[in-house]
Amino acid sequence: MLLNLTILPGDGIGPEVTEQAVLVLQSVADAFGHQTQLHRKHIGGAALAAVNDPLPPDTVEACLSSSAVLLGAVGSPAFDHNPNHLRPEAGLLRLRRELGVFANLRPAVCFPGLEDSSPLRPELVRGTDMMIVRELLGGLYFGQPRSISGASESSTSQSGTPDSRVAVNTMRYSEPEIERIARVAFELAMKRRRKVQSVDKANVLECSRLWREVVTSVAKDYPEVKLAHQYVDSAAMLLVQRPADFDVLLTENMFGDILSDQAGGIVGSLGLLASASIGGPVGLYEPVHGSAPDIAGKGIANPLGAILSVAMLLRHSFQLEREAVCIENAVSSALNQGYRTADLAPKSRAVISTTEMGSLVAQAVKQLASQVFVEVSRDRLRR
Ligand code: IPM
Ligand code: MN
Repeated sequence: MLLNLTILPGDGIGPEVTEQAVLVLQSVADAFGHQTQLHRKHIGGAALAAVNDPLPPDTVEACLSSSAVLLGAVGSPAFDHNPNHLRPEAGLLRLRRELGVFANLRPAVCFPGLEDSSPLRPELVRGTDMMIVRELLGGLYFGQPRSISGASESSTSQSGTPDSRVAVNTMRYSEPEIERIARVAFELAMKRRRKVQSVDKANVLECSRLWREVVTSVAKDYPEVKLAHQYVDSAAMLLVQRPADFDVLLTENMFGDILSDQAGGIVGSLGLLASASIGGPVGLYEPVHGSAPDIAGKGIANPLGAILSVAMLLRHSFQLEREAVCIENAVSSALNQGYRTADLAPKSRAVISTTEMGSLVAQAVKQLASQVFVEVSRDRLRR
């Protein structure tokens, strides 16, 4: 198969972790006999620095004409004071919209042996295996109107006090937007433990009341799935009290952004979390962690979130389930052997670098893939 991808390394630790993810991709492609065609493009701060546009037209074109997009991270303090449309994040949000990826899947799994990396007691976090389904194209992130209006930042009134400005963001959801993301969650639940926990703030927000109604009516098409509704404040508490109880957590854009970072902390490190953004013609795959400018360029970032995003890419954009599982098993194998990046290691333990972890996983992919081949050929001999 031809794996025709656009690679967007982006900012901060994005390029470092993406390099390791591409290494693992090449290793799985070699082992399973696939060709790769990779186009590297700028996004975010890197694109602002190059052409003063966080999502240049040739990046959009490349993404739309490839089969999937692998992204590192966007965000850089250098552009903190830029107007909204010239911030790195604006590039990512526009890309999500251009690709029509309304469904963001963020699995949070406690890998066996990593219980000690969690700030929670091992017996609480053990067995945690949830899928956060975050709506990605609606809510506060995209709702209109949005503005900051009133006096400019520097102006002061006659009395010398700053004039007061007003900021507006709009949370908006339509029924079809809620329905399509709810269906994604229920479909996933059918392949998992058949539980959907829908998270909202229906005691306060109209958006959430509509959310609850629509999710409840979609649930009628999935009688085998157990649906529960949870207020977001209470869900935040339950996540730390009983993380292993969650199966599919369905929620809107902003709540999903917040709760997925929390889930990362719970399972040991945000650096482990991968994501798939799907629902349009081209899928977008990125680690959840962001650009982490404080550790960029030090060679200590955890590449596993990016590497596991490649597994999701192979699964969701190419239906290459065996290849995806091979990467996931290779990650487990590196962790089982005791290898840890700095974010995962309890203080005294020896740590390995970003590139060492990448090479270990790429190596493990080769070994595990040949085992798969052995099984397949034995199977053929038997038939
Ligand atoms: C994420 C990030 C993004 C978001 C930022 C970088 C725009 O935090 O993917 O979780 O808020 O969606
Ligand atoms: Mn986030």
